[in-house]
Amino acid sequence: MVEVILIGAGDRGKDRYGAYIENHDHIRIIAVAEPNPMKREAVMKKHGISEEMGFESWEPLLEKEKFADGVIIATSDADHYLPTLEALKKDYHVLLEKPMSNRIEESIAIAEAEKKSKGQVLVCHVLRYTPLYQKLKALVSEGKIGKLQSIQHNENIGYYHFAHSFVRGNWRNTTESSPLILAKSCHDMDILYWLADSPCKSIQSFGHLSHFHKGNSKGFERCSECAYTDSCPFATKKIYTTLNMWPTSTITPDQTPDGVHHALMNGPYGRCVYHCDNDVVDHQVTTMCFENQVTATFNLCAFTNDISRTIKLMGSEGTIKVKDAKNEIILQRFNEPAEIIIPDVVQGGHGGGDVGIMNAFSQLLMGKKNQSLTNGETSLMSHLMSCAAETSRLKHKIVDIEEYKTNI
Ligand SMILES: NC(=O)c1ccc[n+]([C@@H]2O[C@H](COP(=O)([O-])OP(=O)(O)OC[C@H]3O[C@@H](n4cnc5c(N)ncnc54)[C@H](O)[C@@H]3O)[C@@H](O)[C@H]2O)c1
Repeated sequence: MVEVILIGAGDRGKDRYGAYIENHDHIRIIAVAEPNPMKREAVMKKHGISEEMGFESWEPLLEKEKFADGVIIATSDADHYLPTLEALKKDYHVLLEKPMSNRIEESIAIAEAEKKSKGQVLVCHVLRYTPLYQKLKALVSEGKIGKLQSIQHNENIGYYHFAHSFVRGNWRNTTESSPLILAKSCHDMDILYWLADSPCKSIQSFGHLSHFHKGNSKGFERCSECAYTDSCPFATKKIYTTLNMWPTSTITPDQTPDGVHHALMNGPYGRCVYHCDNDVVDHQVTTMCFENQVTATFNLCAFTNDISRTIKLMGSEGTIKVKDAKNEIILQRFNEPAEIIIPDVVQGGHGGGDVGIMNAFSQLLMGKKNQSLTNGETSLMSHLMSCAAETSRLKHKIVDIEEYKTNI
């Protein structure tokens, strides 16, 4: 049995990692830091945490001598850095939500601090821990398509997911959280880096906020006042339909019909999508070249019906197509019949990645053979790629990653 501290009891901390811990006997939460009393008390009740181990913030918890095996840090993007540094100073292993930080210099500092600590940072790049992506990586590593040459990768965010998270919600504003490509796609940069099996050399990106702005407003500031909710795909009555289920579960801890109604009438998630303080792009394309000459294109887009990732890998002896929403890999070796591969299905978020990373974190805490595939240093590359892509988009230039890193 291993014991962990939970910092940040929101959707990820309480409802994803907390839910895993509830369903597994080998790990338990012994202390929690969370400013929202409803969320904090819910975790304390569910996990049997004593009164003196519930805190409003992480500082008093991490001031104490090390008293647990690990720390889960699931605060919002701008609040990862300081608790991670403190946890590493105390030699805790850390499960750290992505991005490591919304500031690249802080992500670099986390990777540096890890080198001085006995603790390891496992960044929640959960896709690496799914059977689908592990199978994909194995096929490429085994040379099933010869030598990998190029990758086309699409991240289909889904129109309602985009409206919820990136127009009305937590990741709508670059200054408060992160640019879209870091917040949403450091996962994808990490997958591209992992598959290419080589550091990224240079990157170029274009993108705009073309749709979700006041220029498209019909004059209503809130959905509750609007005359067009029947025809608008982003109307709250179409998105927030099921209590205790994402995304409704994230808009208020009070998941009663009255609680949700109150949040939609008064809170940020009841705003018209054309009347928010959002500034992150709603579509972005990025091209990149890795040091081993593998090239990649990445298309990140709000305007899709489904939430999915689709990838095509092109190698010297064949291609692989992936549709993660269908849990399907199609391997086509040149001049041979195509093979359809359906990887194992693991229940839980991100195609089993949430469970996979918690299994890996548990193994790390138990001191068993370390199955975790990453550490802070490995995860840093995806953050450099994301931030360099954003610099490219803003400055209209190709960015050399080494040069970018040197000038931070
Ligand atoms: N790995 C993934 O695939 C994935 C998916 C979604 C979100 N995320 C990341 O997970 C993180 C959390 O996202 P979320 O959706 O759970 O957000 P959230 O807002 O639901 O949860 C964050 C929680 O941190 C709490 N908090 C704020 N200040 C605190 C402090 N000083 N001490 C302790 N707790 C504090 C907030 O009250 C909130 O409950 C973000 O960085 C996000 O980008 C990762």
